[in-house]
Amino acid sequence: MEQVLQQIEQIKAEIAAYEAPNADAVEAFRIKYLGTKGLVKAIMGEMKNVPNEEKKAFGLLLNEFKQTVEARYEALKAAQESQADTAINFDISLPGYPTAVGSRHPISMVRNQIVSIFKRLGFAVAEGPEIEDDWHNFGAMNLPEHHPARDMQDTFYIAQNPDWLLRTHTSSVQARIMESQKPPIRVICPGRVYRNETISARAHCFFHQVEGLYIDEHVSFADLKQTLYFFVQEMFGKDVKVRFRPSYFPFTEPSAEMDISCLICGGKGCNVCKHTGWVEILGCGMVHPKVLENLGIDPNKYTGFAFGMGVERITMLKYQIKDLRLFSENDVRFLQQFTAAL
Ligand code: DAH
Repeated sequence: MEQVLQQIEQIKAEIAAYEAPNADAVEAFRIKYLGTKGLVKAIMGEMKNVPNEEKKAFGLLLNEFKQTVEARYEALKAAQESQADTAINFDISLPGYPTAVGSRHPISMVRNQIVSIFKRLGFAVAEGPEIEDDWHNFGAMNLPEHHPARDMQDTFYIAQNPDWLLRTHTSSVQARIMESQKPPIRVICPGRVYRNETISARAHCFFHQVEGLYIDEHVSFADLKQTLYFFVQEMFGKDVKVRFRPSYFPFTEPSAEMDISCLICGGKGCNVCKHTGWVEILGCGMVHPKVLENLGIDPNKYTGFAFGMGVERITMLKYQIKDLRLFSENDVRFLQQFTAAL
């Protein structure tokens, strides 16, 4: 008995002097004194050796002892936690870690720029599905089955349903708009398109286009030219020259392709413009009356113009990028260069 009482006094002195500078030391205290194999448990075990008449007094003493140890543990724990909250254990004068800033993809930047120029002219933005049916991609656009011009665009068909395909151009969105809206229509349709092409520096199996469509009474080729002149000047600056060449698209009549003077050599001739001084940036024309009719618009009352441009082509010219594959490789060394642009 005497020995146990001595031990209690010794532990009380020990815990009063115990210092816990960190959470590990607080935990060590708990294990040593209050754990299942701890000293408090061991002393409680002495109860069985106490004569019956002394059990009550000894029980009270032991309880008080246990509470003292527990209270000390709570105090150490609270002190440690509040110290951890307020402690400044780092050098506040150190510079912070640099945060890596992402950048927009050049294709997105140029697409946004194209869209914003046309928005200023009052064009609304429309989008359509990338998995399209034959009618919207071809049929409605005056490319009936077996039309030889379908070969101009190598198509990915969807095995599950021969009527489904990956759209080969954003002109399919034109078809959807005309089908669901009444003139006047003035929309710009950005999107991704797919063609079954061998991947090279100049061709890819997917790329991006921006389609434009304007339909109202008395819309003329002059309106088309003025709209596209405005676009080129906003996009490339006032010094860039523009020319239209006659062309063929089944969905427009007459049709044209638009060239701009080469931005790389300023029109003198280089590899990019194949020494002609000009580069093609879009196809356009007056919407074919058959297309209007196919989509429920009266060709005797309304006329319209349409155009479609390749976003990759314009981006390559603007930033002098020579290989189309760079756009889809996700190499940060390429993408990082656009952080500061736009
Ligand atoms: N859809 C054509 C293509 O992918 C581009 C085009 C040409 C769109 C003339 C038009 C247009 O709307 O009028 O090559």
